[in-house]
Amino acid sequence: MSTHKVGPDITVLADCLEVPGIGFLPINAFVLHAEQPVVVDTGLGLPDRDFLGTLGSVVDPADVRWIWLTHPDRDHTGGLFALLEAAPEARLITTFLGAGIMSTERPLPMDRLYFLNPGQTLDVGDRALHAFRPPLFDNPATVGFYDDRSRTCFSSDCFGGPMPSAEIATCTDVGAVPAEDLRAAQRLWASVDSPWVQLVDPDRFLTTVDPLRSMDPQTILCTHLPPAVGLTTQFIDTIAAVPGIDPYTGPDQAALEQMLAGFEPGGPQ
Ligand SMILES: [Fe+2]
Ligand SMILES: [Fe+2]
Repeated sequence: MSTHKVGPDITVLADCLEVPGIGFLPINAFVLHAEQPVVVDTGLGLPDRDFLGTLGSVVDPADVRWIWLTHPDRDHTGGLFALLEAAPEARLITTFLGAGIMSTERPLPMDRLYFLNPGQTLDVGDRALHAFRPPLFDNPATVGFYDDRSRTCFSSDCFGGPMPSAEIATCTDVGAVPAEDLRAAQRLWASVDSPWVQLVDPDRFLTTVDPLRSMDPQTILCTHLPPAVGLTTQFIDTIAAVPGIDPYTGPDQAALEQMLAGFEPGGPQ
């Protein structure tokens, strides 16, 4: 994991995973250094990751007041329980569904939950965070938000895309990626993460994209993409065109056996 700042009051905790045949998927969490500090998602739970240690290099966990879990998928919840322990003042922002899903793994301290639905707003002292449902998502509990002070949209899985290398996946600005390559990566991710978008009516889908236009964020911070500054119009155009896209189908058993054979001594390299 590495850390870098986006503007004066946001830190990215950047990580990535290589997905065979797809690329290097960024896995970001964020710290919003608001008057009441907010941690957005909690990274991977792999044994060689230390989410809490990395977080501790940019904020004292004891000062964290809010943990915004954009949705309870496992690439977002890795450090959650350790952080809840290290941040006794923090309340966990999720939805009724999100809490239900999380409680299938371990009971949650119900008195520390804060249920926030799309359309609702949270005051964190020096700014308001406006919750919304991103147009693309892979979990019914997904809630992103817009910070009206930094003009930043935290979009959860929406707008993600696999990158060609770990260096690019954890870089500070996705603007370095050529626009056509970025568009192709985001379309691929949409077909992987939101296969249901094949079936949606394009006009009705656009009604979920339009709120982003009026939000008009300067910066988009996605869990699965390097930070994007000044690319909102391009991103909206990209996802406005995903209805009808073919869903991704992963390798089948024959392909898996072929891959495994490549690792056997004497097998094909
Ligand atoms: Fe997800
Ligand atoms: Fe995710």
